[in-house]
Amino acid sequence: MPTITVSLPQTSYQIDIASGSLNQLGKQMQKLGVGKKVLVVSNPEIFDYYGDTCINSLQNNGFETFTHLIPAGEQYKNLRSIEQIYDTALTNRIERSSTLVALGGGVIGDMTGFAAATWLRGVNFVQVPTTLLAMVDASVGGKTGVNHPQGKNLIGAFYQPKLVAIDPDVLKTLPEKEFRAGIAEVIKYGVIWDEDLFTKLEQAEHIDNFSAIAPEFLQTILVRSCQAKADVVSQDEKEAGLRAILNYGHTIGHAVESLTNYQQFVHGEAVAIGMVAAGKIAVRMGLWTKAEAARQDKLIAKAGLPLDIPSQLKIDDILETIKSDKKVKAGKVRFILPTKIGAVTITDRSTSELIKEALP
Ligand code: NAD
Ligand code: GLY
Repeated sequence: MPTITVSLPQTSYQIDIASGSLNQLGKQMQKLGVGKKVLVVSNPEIFDYYGDTCINSLQNNGFETFTHLIPAGEQYKNLRSIEQIYDTALTNRIERSSTLVALGGGVIGDMTGFAAATWLRGVNFVQVPTTLLAMVDASVGGKTGVNHPQGKNLIGAFYQPKLVAIDPDVLKTLPEKEFRAGIAEVIKYGVIWDEDLFTKLEQAEHIDNFSAIAPEFLQTILVRSCQAKADVVSQDEKEAGLRAILNYGHTIGHAVESLTNYQQFVHGEAVAIGMVAAGKIAVRMGLWTKAEAARQDKLIAKAGLPLDIPSQLKIDDILETIKSDKKVKAGKVRFILPTKIGAVTITDRSTSELIKEALP
């Protein structure tokens, strides 16, 4: 099974990627030398599909299992849900040696990780991502947390999992829109880090839905994306510098999500729009060639992702929203901008005027 190591000063861990591996989860976790008690956190929809396989695998390998389900949806990613996980942990005497397993997408992963970071000041944590976005991004790198009524992911902790166990087969039940959202993050890795991955995506016949992608190519996508994230996180775990490049497309993407009240686009779609916009800014600043930006936009379109900022949004409102983003440093808006396919630069030199010219 392809395995990628996330090497960190305090703790290193593996990302295992193998088709059909969900029923090997118990065996994989035995190797971690963790305690017998496992609390699986999921949502009812995902648990209906994959709960039995997950629980049976754990029990067949000697683990005592408990389950906590949170309704599906970003609106449940809050401290109230975390408190409810704590209640289940308390009732079932989840101890320091116990493990919280996140069986779900980024919402479940972020919440379970935060609960694991804080329950008893830290218990073991395992990620079993079930969306493409969570497989290639959210489950790797240790960002955990919940939303505050005033903003997304404002409450959180860096807390690394002990294992990321990816079974691509679970993507067969993922809605296509969610699959494409994950592909947006894959394209992101191609643009910011891995030119060869970008070219492979260009050459592939289809990239817009799970059933049209050959299993071997899906494995390549997962391995290369997780490797890119592992490389970046290994060099800059707490986002002192380099890790910010993972936010490529996110500055304008977040503004678009926020101004459309999180109703019109899923996260990856907004990131796609943000990457197209960032490409235009990079070209305007003379950092990137028009031809390469066009290649990026063509690939985003091929993935069935949106390209344009919705016409009802005003550029001034986008700029205002960007300025209130939590990533703004000392009042300066930082953009991640491509310089060639496979490389980006971080800059706070883009003025409002320039952005307005680039995004008329
Ligand atoms: P999600 O977790 O909301 O899942 C999307 C939908 O797909 C949900 O309705 C879910 O029930 C359903 N689903 C999940 N897996 C399924 C499967 N295999 N079959 C059928 N349905 C399935 O969405 P997401 O895109 O995975 O995650 C978004 C969240 O991730 C956001 O809260 C975002 O802030 C966070 N995130 C975190 C990081 C990080 O580094 N920690 C990175 C990116 C995003
Ligand atoms: N998703 C951005 C990061 O993990 O840093």
